[in-house]
Amino acid sequence: MSAPREAAERVQALRDEIERHNHAYHVLDAPTVPDAEYDRLFRELQALEADHPELCAPDSPTQRVGGKPLPQFAAVRHAVPMLSIKTETDTGPSGAIHFDTRVRRALGLGEDAPALEYAAELKFDGLAISLRYEAGILVRAATRGDGETGEDVTRNVRTIHRIPLRLHGAAIPELLEVRGEVFMSRPDFERYNARQRERNKPVLVNPRNGAAGSIRQLDPKIAAGRPLSFYAYGLGETRDWPLPESHSEVLDALEKLGIPVCEHRTVTHGADGLVAFHASILALRDTLPFDIDGVVYKVNSRALQERLGFSTREPRWAVAHKYPAQEALTQVLGIEVQVGRTGKLTPVARLKPVFVGGVTVTNATLHNEDEIRRKDVRIGDTVIVRRAGDVIPEVFAVIKERRPKDVEQQEQWSLAKAVGNKCPACQSAIERAEGEADWRCTAGLYCPAQRKQAILHFASRRALDIEGLGEKLVEQLVEQEWVTSVADLYDAGRINAAALAGLERMGEKSAQNIVDAIEKSKTPTLARLIYALGIRNVGEATAKDLARYFGDLAALMVADAEALQRVHDVGPVVAESIAHFFAEAHNREVIARLEQAGVRGRAEPRQAEARAVLQGLTFVLSGTLPRLTREEAAALIEAKGGKVSGSVSKKTDYVVAGEDAGSKLEKAHALGVAILDEDGLRRLLETQVEQPSG
Ligand code: IVH
Repeated sequence: MSAPREAAERVQALRDEIERHNHAYHVLDAPTVPDAEYDRLFRELQALEADHPELCAPDSPTQRVGGKPLPQFAAVRHAVPMLSIKTETDTGPSGAIHFDTRVRRALGLGEDAPALEYAAELKFDGLAISLRYEAGILVRAATRGDGETGEDVTRNVRTIHRIPLRLHGAAIPELLEVRGEVFMSRPDFERYNARQRERNKPVLVNPRNGAAGSIRQLDPKIAAGRPLSFYAYGLGETRDWPLPESHSEVLDALEKLGIPVCEHRTVTHGADGLVAFHASILALRDTLPFDIDGVVYKVNSRALQERLGFSTREPRWAVAHKYPAQEALTQVLGIEVQVGRTGKLTPVARLKPVFVGGVTVTNATLHNEDEIRRKDVRIGDTVIVRRAGDVIPEVFAVIKERRPKDVEQQEQWSLAKAVGNKCPACQSAIERAEGEADWRCTAGLYCPAQRKQAILHFASRRALDIEGLGEKLVEQLVEQEWVTSVADLYDAGRINAAALAGLERMGEKSAQNIVDAIEKSKTPTLARLIYALGIRNVGEATAKDLARYFGDLAALMVADAEALQRVHDVGPVVAESIAHFFAEAHNREVIARLEQAGVRGRAEPRQAEARAVLQGLTFVLSGTLPRLTREEAAALIEAKGGKVSGSVSKKTDYVVAGEDAGSKLEKAHALGVAILDEDGLRRLLETQVEQPSG
């Protein structure tokens, strides 16, 4: 039976409108509609699709929430092969000069021919994907595979919000294949891993694996739970599309169709222009929110590209020009053990100094004893050291082939043996609890190393942000026993400008600055204060959840394990850590002294005028959202007048679904209840308009 015409027309109108708003929100970053309105449209569309299954379509925005797992991926043959490009590994200017010289020679250009025009862009570090749009609709997404045949990963790619399910604009081509890179941004990667760690779930090794791994998941809900991005860099097959004359104009045209294209690109001339681009992007590299391993140069004119053609597998008109690797080979000279803030003993490799991605590295973390065993790291081994962004360098892998004979004989490294069963800082006993990866010093804040780290943590940028209270100063303060707990920082009898000025490397001016910074730190948000206390297993995200749930420190301090576990993401282990922390008399004393000194956590103010926006709406939370905890989501909904319920019924207005949403999501589908992902929820929450009654 075919759907009534009005239903079909309404469905189409809704999809067009929703996708327009999606594009404005995700690509242009400029929302065009009050969020409650967006969600009403979305809900209406879901209800219509549930009533008329025959109207379901691949480009419906409702397809972005994932679906059932696949048994395997289907093979996709690429009509236009997906080629790779030659790489210039010389990271200096000669990489660009060689390319320009080769191209000019191949085109038969003489010495005094004018400089060639090039398009220059970033080399993204993710997974190559081909997106096929037929009559403007995303019908297939495929991996590169061997270049001739890839895998059909359409359903996973549909969960990437930045990729339009339908092209925009008036001039929609009959067929358009867009090629580009799917990747995970570094903030998204770090947020995802932090959340996984807090839930004791596996973390991603690096953003590249995060992106590639998500796309290759047979269960699209896993891809939907991981925040991915996409940038286009080229074309595959096209039909009935007026091809622009240059590569840069192709990218401009794709952008107009709603496809994400990276802003860091340029059109330039000659080898000099390429060298300048290479240098300017290198200077930017650490500030980009995603990893790149180089830049790409392309002859801009498509006519010239055609003349240049291909050599076996690579186009002669394009090249990748690398940057210094973020990895290097070096030798492990020794393994030391460092004591962290919570007493955790971390093995650190002392390395033969090596230059990695612009800095000299002499130490790299080995994480823990099990990791050393898993990677089989031994003293004397040649290893790959990796650093990325500001992250601490790590020993990534051992080159077994380079292991000397005598190292082969070495017995497996054991932490307890290495430190003679004693904390290397205070000689107290150490322990490794059942089921835990880490050894710990049992002395708590009596251990000077823990004290020092606890103070550094308290003062760190994301905690109370006391500028100038760095490692060297804290070391002196702890060693001279001026400061034994963080409360001592606020004791003017101990810490004042005159006293500080007498310390090593400390002038009067900087001493005064530190005193001012300490004074300024007295009114943090409650979440920062909780985080600053350094409770084991309480990271920033959990501290925020706790602050929202309890509202003030006094309420948190008296909460028992049962009450604590009502906060989302707080399970028995975290609850036990918190309860244990506040049960310790010396911790309570430190908090009392902080309070006396005037250190108070501010609860986040609730917006009274926004409270009514979700009045009368009932929400059900299901699965794991990429950034918000369940408790955060619930608190946000309730702060705006909405209700959060545990089970889905006809009365439910919205199901907010994340990773592993399971049966509640299915029930929502069956009942035609509107489904939101985290972005949808955020839009709804940010809206300023009143919800009309009814
Ligand atoms: S152009 C025919 N441009 O690097 C030219 N590739 O070997 C096709 N990549 O697998 C590639 N950023 O996934 C091109 N701006 C960019 C790129 C880029 C990253 C990847 C691509 C390909 C590999 C090149």
